[in-house]
Amino acid sequence: MFDLLLKNGTCLTPNGRVRCDVGVRDGRIEALGVPASAAAKDVLDCTGLHVLPGVIDTQVHFREPGLTHKEDIGSGSASAALGGVTAFCEMPNTTPSTDSAERLNWKVARAKETSWTDFAFYVGATAQNVAALGALERLEGCAGVKMFLGSSTGNLLVDDTVTMAAVLASGRRRIACHSEDEARLKERKPLTDGKTAHVHPEWRDEECAVRSTARLLDLAKLTGRQVHVLHVTTAEEIPLLARAKAFASCEVSPQHLTLFAPDCYDRLGTFAQMNPPIRERRHLEALWEAVRSGVFDVLGSDHAPHTREEKAKPYPASPSGMPGVQTLVPVMLTHVAQGRLSLERFVDLTASGAARLFGLTTKGRLAVGFDADFTVVDLAAKRTITTDWSKSRCGWTPFDGFEAEGWPVATVIRGAVVMKDGQLLGKPSGQPLRFA
Ligand code: DOR
Repeated sequence: MFDLLLKNGTCLTPNGRVRCDVGVRDGRIEALGVPASAAAKDVLDCTGLHVLPGVIDTQVHFREPGLTHKEDIGSGSASAALGGVTAFCEMPNTTPSTDSAERLNWKVARAKETSWTDFAFYVGATAQNVAALGALERLEGCAGVKMFLGSSTGNLLVDDTVTMAAVLASGRRRIACHSEDEARLKERKPLTDGKTAHVHPEWRDEECAVRSTARLLDLAKLTGRQVHVLHVTTAEEIPLLARAKAFASCEVSPQHLTLFAPDCYDRLGTFAQMNPPIRERRHLEALWEAVRSGVFDVLGSDHAPHTREEKAKPYPASPSGMPGVQTLVPVMLTHVAQGRLSLERFVDLTASGAARLFGLTTKGRLAVGFDADFTVVDLAAKRTITTDWSKSRCGWTPFDGFEAEGWPVATVIRGAVVMKDGQLLGKPSGQPLRFA
């Protein structure tokens, strides 16, 4: 007797695509391929659908505490589940920043009550908490340490080499980094005077990203610490990252693979503004080449909601960031449909990659014994992404009007069907991710 049977789907397993039924018991995958006579308390009909290991989004900003007019853990995780995401790692630039055990524990306790999906939270590195980071990264529900090398939303920043090196020497787990060079950002800020968002990639130019990433990689090599470069945006960083695989992993975001300048600023203005910026087409093409060649390890949405009113402020007073946790799956499946990446590479970037990098030993793999987390998708579905569908509290999406081919139709977390056909089911029952 199974708790749940996923019937008649095509499963993306370590053995390739397999047409088999999946039996779930006690929140885990009990069997791949079950006798037709097998009984189950609940059946999810997956005829014509593909069953993927649950999508893990390792970069989101859910704004709680302090900025809950933009989002909170409940609304952000609901948006995630509606988009087929089964777990998230959330960033520390809330108000206050997540930079102590007390603040991390608060988020974990809150998420246990309100999160629709499984979760973990990064701790932000500061000059003041360096000595504590090694202990903080081992707390329940901690995704690891996040270091902002250049300033973005919030006030977390580590921009001097001595503190950076101290942070890298502070613990053991992979450190996630926002890589832009603060000195160059400051120096070039006057470029934005009287300009529109079109100047955003010029202010925060390629050199800002490359200089910062080169410095970070040198320090990582020197200290032997594993680093993770978030939302890479330039062609020039790719060869540096490709040579640094022994000590550095990297992430790409759907928006950097889909939107490009100047088109995105013509159409969306400040609503396309994010850090690091959306750049011109040659960068998008280089990022795709790095997806194909395997340089990128994971895909992260960098879901960074701000309200319409905030985003509509005249540049550069407009805040950087856009929502994305709910649109990650349909946008990327559309790229699959259009031949830019395989479904297997999508799974690698959204499930196995995240599990491998961060040490999620029971997730990221559709295999017996693993958590029964599934993103069930209809590869043939043609639907238009609309603001109405997007449930982030911020109330907008840069992908409004995007014609998607491929859609998440069910989200299953540890055997519980949390979303089916666009409806949330049950109540928030997320649990902290467990790391090796
Ligand atoms: O555009 C961004 N927005 N980039 C970041 O690094 C932070 C994020 C936010 O929190 O708004």
